[in-house]
Amino acid sequence: MKVVFISAEVYPFSKVGGLGDVLGGLPDSLANHGVDVKIITPLYASIDKTSFDLKQIKTGFDVKMAEKSFTANIYKSVSKTIHPNHDVYFIDNQEYFRYFQVYTDNHGNPYNNNPLRFLFFQKAALQFIINEKWNPDIIHCHDNHTAVVPLYTKTTFSELAKSKTILTLHNIAYQGMTEMKNKEYFDLPDENFYPMSNLEWYGQINPLKSGILLADELTTVSLTHAREISGDNELGAGMKHIINERKKPVRGIVNGVDYSVWNPETDTFIYQNYSIKTLHKKKQNKKMLLKESGFAANLEEKPVVGMVSRLVEQKGIDLILDGIEKMLSLDLVFILLGSGETRYHSAFKKIKRRFPDKFFVDFEYNNALSHKILAGCDIFLMPSRFEPCGITQMYSLKYGTAPLVRKTGGLADTVINWDKEQGNGFVFNDYTADSMLEVLARGLQIYRDKNHWNKLVKNGMKQDFSWDRSAKQYIQLYENMLK
Ligand code: ADP
Ligand code: GLC
Repeated sequence: MKVVFISAEVYPFSKVGGLGDVLGGLPDSLANHGVDVKIITPLYASIDKTSFDLKQIKTGFDVKMAEKSFTANIYKSVSKTIHPNHDVYFIDNQEYFRYFQVYTDNHGNPYNNNPLRFLFFQKAALQFIINEKWNPDIIHCHDNHTAVVPLYTKTTFSELAKSKTILTLHNIAYQGMTEMKNKEYFDLPDENFYPMSNLEWYGQINPLKSGILLADELTTVSLTHAREISGDNELGAGMKHIINERKKPVRGIVNGVDYSVWNPETDTFIYQNYSIKTLHKKKQNKKMLLKESGFAANLEEKPVVGMVSRLVEQKGIDLILDGIEKMLSLDLVFILLGSGETRYHSAFKKIKRRFPDKFFVDFEYNNALSHKILAGCDIFLMPSRFEPCGITQMYSLKYGTAPLVRKTGGLADTVINWDKEQGNGFVFNDYTADSMLEVLARGLQIYRDKNHWNKLVKNGMKQDFSWDRSAKQYIQLYENMLK
């Protein structure tokens, strides 16, 4: 079975959030099950061709964007150690990728030509598949950046009409909207832009809508989120009716974890490796994390709450800001790593100034520190407003760091509230600071009861969220599509 993944992020080459992690783990696992997997992704300026061992393999070909043509150059990863069981190809273009990061500039503002950048990417990727005569059985698309592919394989790129398409929704809230005046860039018959048609959405162009309508299969990254987006228009970001127009329902396949990257026994970023059998060694990570964050040495006995997150509304940052005074009045330390919206950066800067001995924030994108926080904290906070899957809570389980989450999407599917000596974390329901703090206070109580605490974190560490489980479900789905 030949499957081509087209995606805006692929770890370790590019990663903004969980999409990168998914593309770093799922294809490996599919290839281990005998699927012939290839990935196509953009070559952003942030990807270092030399250290990743990328080689240009083709002279460029032209891709039409309205009146102009742009050259797509193709690079391939030839590294023997990074994703050795499947090929990763990169689309390079000066105008759209070479001077850009993934989606946003250094201040977190989305580039205003994003819709065109990813439109170019999709056209180039499809043309490349045609040029190479790969004839894939399945083209697996991810999010709005690749959502026009199902429409393209039925129209402009009809050489690929035999390939089935699947669209996985990692985040339905981002739809790739652009103004109607940009329709000439799409190279598609006008009827796709008429009111109520494949791409039209309240007078604008909505790429995600066309993917939802036309992909042969539509999936999202947890069972609960599949129910949420098809049953609730707000959680479906306005797309509920479009999802329900499809003949087949949206399926939920929960993400996995790449335990070759996220495992406290082998993690090379953390200060001290440990396992369920040597859990006492986790403390060294806490000690060093506190030190590196500039805290006094005597804080080790206090519970440390950590968070690694994009700082956007989705992640429940408003709850934290609402409840921060009460939270920091509890006997704890809070360490936050995240970047995103400016208003949140300013708010957290102020909090750091007011509570320097209880609160630490780092606004970088720092992969090593994200591992250290997962290993060094006691409680990992994810109070999301909505969460299609969420991957970090699954990391925290493996690292013996109890997740404290809001009951939504994939968080509801992976974290079980500690009750009657069962469970792996803490879960609250209402989207209010008070319900978050109530559960946090309960968490701190259990933290002080070492027997129960050990049992709770060991429950989490024993769980297996490896990609293998999800890969098998995707393979089943692919096989059904080809019947
Ligand atoms: P989302 O994709 O919505 O951001 P996920 O929980 O699925 O949420 O995945 C987030 C991923 O991004 C995790 O691997 C997390 O460690 C990483 N991440 C988020 N912010 C940062 C940051 N500032 N530095 C390093 N890694 C980060
Ligand atoms: C999105 C979602 C997150 C999910 C990730 C990978 O960014 O916000 O919940 O885990 O995609 O599927």
